[in-house]
Formats: sequence, structure tokens, C-alpha cells
Amino acid sequence: MRNGLFKGVGPFHKTGLKAMQVERIKTGIPGLDELLDGGIPKGSLVVLSGDPGSGKTIFSLQFLYTGAMQHDEKGVLISLEEKPDQLIETASVFGWDFKKLVQEKKIIIQSFELYDFDKLRDSIEDLVTKAKAKRLVIDPGVIFRLYFERELDARKRIVVLGKMLKQLGVTTLVTNEATHGQTDGLFGLEEYVADGVILLYHKKLKNEFIRSVGVLKMRNTKIAEKLRPVRIDSKGIEVLARTELFHEI
Ligand SMILES: Nc1ncnc2c1ncn2[C@@H]1O[C@H](COP(=O)(O)OP(=O)(O)OP(=O)(O)O)[C@@H](O)[C@H]1O
Ligand SMILES: [Mg+2]
Repeated sequence: MRNGLFKGVGPFHKTGLKAMQVERIKTGIPGLDELLDGGIPKGSLVVLSGDPGSGKTIFSLQFLYTGAMQHDEKGVLISLEEKPDQLIETASVFGWDFKKLVQEKKIIIQSFELYDFDKLRDSIEDLVTKAKAKRLVIDPGVIFRLYFERELDARKRIVVLGKMLKQLGVTTLVTNEATHGQTDGLFGLEEYVADGVILLYHKKLKNEFIRSVGVLKMRNTKIAEKLRPVRIDSKGIEVLARTELFHEI
């Protein structure tokens, strides 16, 4: 029997080396954790990249809501575009009571005007540390590029931000915009610092738009190689079985 060969006699057994169990956090998006071997490795920095209107903000809200409601994990939402009230309203459309979570200090929503990148970085560090937050969202990360005139400057400082977030141990989503599948990237964040990249698509195919999701990379994770269809409805975002949407493709 093939199995018998490995029972307690392998080199791993002799050295006492065991496979490390990776601690994962649930995304809160039904169907997505299956594509991620059970969830995002705790403490990871993940770039959520997608077409305009593909659901990046809703995904982010759902991630924080699930953390706060189901796992007792505090969340911080750094909004670089929308005001807290707008986000609270968006969440309420899906029945997620962010107003209450903010009052209970389970979620902190902080919006920032464009000013000083280093101050932004320090404020994020402060908020996450003080709140002992387990989940962090920066939406939309694409705004980072407006802080800098020179690309080299942007690259250096954004990479430093990424490293700081990883040291904090908070599981982070940074959203990025990809236009027609092309992404300008977040100045090296994806390549050099991010542990994972999740891609959301909203693409025209013949006479209809199709939503889908794929995992480009995720540290310490056996990822699904195929794209899966996505649905957004009154309950939020959901990843469907392949057959439910890719029927004609
Ligand atoms: N209740 C709902 N039912 C179905 N679809 C919805 C609902 N609410 C929003 N949507 C869809 O979700 C899309 C917006 O999602 P979201 O704002 O998260 O996208 P985004 O990727 O953050 O967009 P942007 O690029 O503008 O930041 C809308 O364009 C709409 O198609
Ligand atoms: Mg958005």
C-alpha cells in the first residue's frame, strides 16, 4: 500500500518537522474562501484589484462586517474617496448596520483629505494599534498615486507603508482600480510587498456584462486556478459555482 510507506517512517517524522497550520481568516464572501484554501492567511496584505464598479467597495465592507459580526474582530476602514456617511449608507443597502458598529467601536471609519502621505501612514498605524484592529481596508488605494509627483518617491514610500502594515499583523485589503484589465499597479506594492492579489472583473461579453473573480496570488495558499462567476445582490457579493454563470462561455 502506497500510504503505508509514509506512516511514521519518513524523514519528517525523524526530525519532528510538522507541516505548519496556516491560520486563516474568513473573507465573509460566500464561496470565496474555497478558492483560498479556507481563507486569507492571517496578517496578510492583499491587493483587491478590479474594474470600475466591479464591487471592490462592497467586498471591503462585507469583509469588515463579517469580521465584526461573526468573528469579534475589530475593523478599520480608511476611506480616501467617500465620506463615512456615504459608506454607512452603502452598507445599509445590504442590511449591514455600520452605524451601530461604529457606535460600538467595532468598526472605525476614517476618511482622509489628500495631504501628507507620511501623516496618513502614521494615522493608520495609530488607529490600528489603538483599536487592536484585526482587519483593515484602504479604499481606494489607487489614490496613493495622487500624493506623489515623482514615481520613485511613490514606490519607496508605498513599499514602506506595506511593510509597516505587515509588521502590525493586521489583515489588510488595499483596493486598486484596473481599467479594462490593465492595472497601473500600486507602485510595487503588488510585486514586492503584497502577500496576495485578488482580481474582480466586470467585463462585456457579447451583449452582456459578466462579473467574475480570480486569485492571482496568495502566500502559503493553494489557490484555485480558474476564474469563478460573481453575483452582487441585496445580500452583498457572492462567488458562484462555475456552471451558474459561465454556461455559454
Ligand atoms: N443592491 C444591489 N444589487 C445588485 N447590484 C448592486 C447593488 N448595489 C450595488 N450593486 C452593484 O455594485 C456595483 C458597485 O460596487 P462597488 O461600488 O463596490 O464597486 P467598486 O469596484 O468599488 O467601484 P468604483 O470603481 O466606483 O470604486 C454597482 O455598479 C452595482 O452594479
Ligand atoms: Mg469603490
